[in-house]
Amino acid sequence: MKKTVLLTGAAGFIGSNLLQYLFNKYSEYHFLVLDALTYAGNHKNIPEYIQKSKRFEFWYGDVTNPYIVNELMERSHLVVHLAAETHVARSIFDNTKFFTTDVIGTQTMMNALIKCTQIERFIHISSSEVYGTANGDVMSEEHPLNPRSPYAGAKAGADRLVYSYWCSHDVPAVILRPFNNYGPRQHLEKMTPRFITSAIKNEQLTVHGDGCAQRDWIYVDDNCEAIDRALHVDDFNRIKNQVINIGTGRSVKVLDMARCILKEINRAPDLITYIGNRPGQVDLHRATTAKAKELLDWEPKTQVVDGLRKTIEWYSDNEVWWKELEWMKHVPIRTAAGKLEMH
Ligand SMILES: NC(=O)c1ccc[n+]([C@@H]2O[C@H](COP(=O)([O-])OP(=O)(O)OC[C@H]3O[C@@H](n4cnc5c(N)ncnc54)[C@H](O)[C@@H]3O)[C@@H](O)[C@H]2O)c1
Repeated sequence: MKKTVLLTGAAGFIGSNLLQYLFNKYSEYHFLVLDALTYAGNHKNIPEYIQKSKRFEFWYGDVTNPYIVNELMERSHLVVHLAAETHVARSIFDNTKFFTTDVIGTQTMMNALIKCTQIERFIHISSSEVYGTANGDVMSEEHPLNPRSPYAGAKAGADRLVYSYWCSHDVPAVILRPFNNYGPRQHLEKMTPRFITSAIKNEQLTVHGDGCAQRDWIYVDDNCEAIDRALHVDDFNRIKNQVINIGTGRSVKVLDMARCILKEINRAPDLITYIGNRPGQVDLHRATTAKAKELLDWEPKTQVVDGLRKTIEWYSDNEVWWKELEWMKHVPIRTAAGKLEMH
């Protein structure tokens, strides 16, 4: 079946992996990408064979601009909205853009969705960050929303904004809440690529606090598969207006991720520097996975060690890609104790 798919933010990490995944799988589909190419977007994230294809159109533009959003939404059957400002640490010292893009950008998309009745499915990519730190052992979709950084606050605003449009306009939307993604083409400011590229260069890995914060790490291809299921599951009524966690149900400490990366790259285990904890740190993120299994028939396939190996291999093979981003790798953090440090 021929369909037109609109992906916002697909010059970024998850979006570019999703574009490649869907492009390779659905040879009849036409793809529209809307991306403002911020510091986090990179045209090199879109493989050349896709860029050159007649099935692909790149639209340079902003998700807060209703003119371009309306025009692209009018042409689409399936939409995945990923465009966002995404770095927690940056949101702590400069947050206006987070609210403009993440909240107003989502509002612009939803206003267009109301008008574009040919759209069959709209997948909103929220985030596990909306939950804050886990009340108990795991976070179900019913966990209270206690966002702990401006980024998380903006994502929570966007998430509830989509919910409000279900209630008032019955739009065909689904909210996915992915947990911590890692994999190829993730910006160096994020923890996993920062650790990997530091280890490759035999430089210190900088850990916040004592490194005991735990995250549910999901390999990006598994996340793409979950989004694909949300786009294609037979009975859309089963998932329409649902919030679904996309995680593994397991969590690993930041320190253990650092140690695992050092071991895989054959570096000394003490190549770790500790800095103060950042304000708004989340202690524990671990997803419940039952709803994704039931509604999407989806479970993650990749164990963390295997995912890290694949990611390390990609960064080892693509030094040209990440060398250009090195100057933005370290972000200044005003720690909870008030000291200014670089991560
Ligand atoms: N990476 C994760 O671990 C993770 C986890 C859960 C949810 N998410 C969510 O997934 C989505 C994608 O995350 P990512 O890690 O790929 O982000 P990213 O920062 O790598 O990419 C974001 C993309 O959005 C584009 N963009 C930013 N502002 C824009 C605007 N105003 N208009 C149009 N495009 C704009 C950027 O140019 C970039 O290409 C985000 O919504 C994020 O909140 C990410």
